[in-house]
Amino acid sequence: MDFYTILKQFHSGWAYLIITAGLVLFLTLSYYVVKKKSPGKSLLRLSFFTTLIFHIQLVFGALLYILSPYSKWNENTMSDDITRLYAVEHPLMMFAAVMFITIVNSRLKKSSEVKISNMVLVAAAIACILAMIPWHAWPGSN
Ligand code: HEM
Repeated sequence: MDFYTILKQFHSGWAYLIITAGLVLFLTLSYYVVKKKSPGKSLLRLSFFTTLIFHIQLVFGALLYILSPYSKWNENTMSDDITRLYAVEHPLMMFAAVMFITIVNSRLKKSSEVKISNMVLVAAAIACILAMIPWHAWPGSN
């Protein structure tokens, strides 16, 4: 198995973890907002590991971007739905999702209360991810 295939399988499998971690963080933040709890050690640990999981996907996504035959730039990249998705839309929106989670993690560390805006940012990250997952190829029809 070549490096590209290993990376692609890793990236594909890690996506399950991303969706699960995003949802768990969202539900936990909702609980903290409703109960008006201040962020303790366990919430900070959860948001740290969620951020770590997202950053790992970002690094492997960037490597995949270099190696994948679908993210190549030529005169047809923008006119073809699949190459536009992999070369532009997927990376940009996923990058935005990683940024949102990173911002939430940093805000939780600095604040003594869990604001509803943190929930909105996590929801936006999940929305970006669900909108930009290549559903034609995932999970496992390739
Ligand atoms: C952070 C959240 C991300 C998630 C949840 C995610 C998820 C996925 C999934 C499920 C696939 C389909 C894999 C398959 O065909 O089995 C994929 C493909 C791909 N992703 Fe991501 N991705 C993320 C971030 C990124 C980033 C930041 C980049 C680039 C900088 C990227 C680049 C790619 C490329 C190039 C492919 C196409 C691989 C190929 O079929 O050759 N991804 N991604």
